[in-house]
Amino acid sequence: MKYSFSRRIQKTPKSFIREILKVTQNPEVISFAGGLPNPGLIDTEGILRAAETVLKNDGRNVLQYSNTEGYAPLRQFIADRYKNRYNISVNPEEILITNGSQQCLDLLGKVFIDKNDAVAIERPGYLGAIQAFSLFEPEFFPIEMHNDGPDSGELKKVISEENPKIFYGIPNSQNPSGITYSIEKRKEIGEILTDSDTVFVEDDAYGELNFTGDILPPVKKYLPDLGILTGSFSKIISPGMRLGWVCAPEEIIDRISTAKQASDLHSNYLSQRIIAEYLLTNNIDEKILKIQEEYKLRCNLMTNLMDEMFPPEILHTNPKGGMFIWLTLPKNYSSQKLFEKAMDKNVAVLPGNPFYVDGGGDNTARINFSNADEEGIRTGIEVLSKIFKEWKN
Ligand SMILES: Cc1ncc(COP(=O)(O)O)c(C=O)c1O
Repeated sequence: MKYSFSRRIQKTPKSFIREILKVTQNPEVISFAGGLPNPGLIDTEGILRAAETVLKNDGRNVLQYSNTEGYAPLRQFIADRYKNRYNISVNPEEILITNGSQQCLDLLGKVFIDKNDAVAIERPGYLGAIQAFSLFEPEFFPIEMHNDGPDSGELKKVISEENPKIFYGIPNSQNPSGITYSIEKRKEIGEILTDSDTVFVEDDAYGELNFTGDILPPVKKYLPDLGILTGSFSKIISPGMRLGWVCAPEEIIDRISTAKQASDLHSNYLSQRIIAEYLLTNNIDEKILKIQEEYKLRCNLMTNLMDEMFPPEILHTNPKGGMFIWLTLPKNYSSQKLFEKAMDKNVAVLPGNPFYVDGGGDNTARINFSNADEEGIRTGIEVLSKIFKEWKN
């Protein structure tokens, strides 16, 4: 059958990660390819208690339609958390609850991007953002990532020459590279964007997973009117409940709300009520600390094993949090080949090329450390190191 699909969907890249995850779902495979939070850290008992309470006490309401912006006590909780964690003052009216933070990217695309508009994005950049924005047919301008964040010279040039509608970035433990922007870089981005027409979409999916204790202010602190923060409950409570949020000036929230009404009326209200109940009746700091400690252990184990076993020409980042480490192989190595060789030994890694909107990155790979257990990490890194030692181009 030949269907007349829109040009827009035909031009949107298929999520390569979803394709790879299909291959790696075999339980015998040690997968460093995906990006799943550790299932052992999902508090099923706590969620069950919260669900029981809201359903028993207010069942007819929690199963009813609700408003587009989201449950007010949940928006208040998020505003209070920004104050306590980042010392930024946000009004609950500047927060809108979404179906996962992924939906923020779709809504921001609807609100800001017309066909052929310029969009600046980190290089490598988050595949989910590339995919979400691609549906609005922008022209992407990649900004090279360094160990302290995006290249300022390139950013200045793109801002002044291309006047992008959006600059999208992940300052905390970036997906895919694991890089965290330095404080200087955050201030500099604020300076570069001030007085421009570009909003900075600051995806903070991993801010709460910083396991170093060195918490840096979001770029929004230096860019109150042009800063849009997105956040998620996926990595700290549950990805399956699909709840995230966007925090932006009210004028922007108003437009997002219109786009969201057209999309889905409102986010899953039952999930909102359960998560709000959970947050108000549990010590969330304690729960997050536990996740940070577990991920720190796994990340340190992995990078230490890499230092011990990998040949010195294989480079890796040293994340301060999040879920990913980035490998850079020598220029003439192919990470697609690494993927194939590792899959032969039942270990999965994610080739880095799809994270580059302009091609390249063929010698890079993303390694997830949150999902495998200690034994899996030891075995998997051993397999990769053997592959590197025997590598022939
Ligand atoms: C950087 C980043 N942003 C957004 C998301 C989407 O997450 P969710 O929709 O579950 O909040 C992810 C998921 O892995 C991510 O890595």
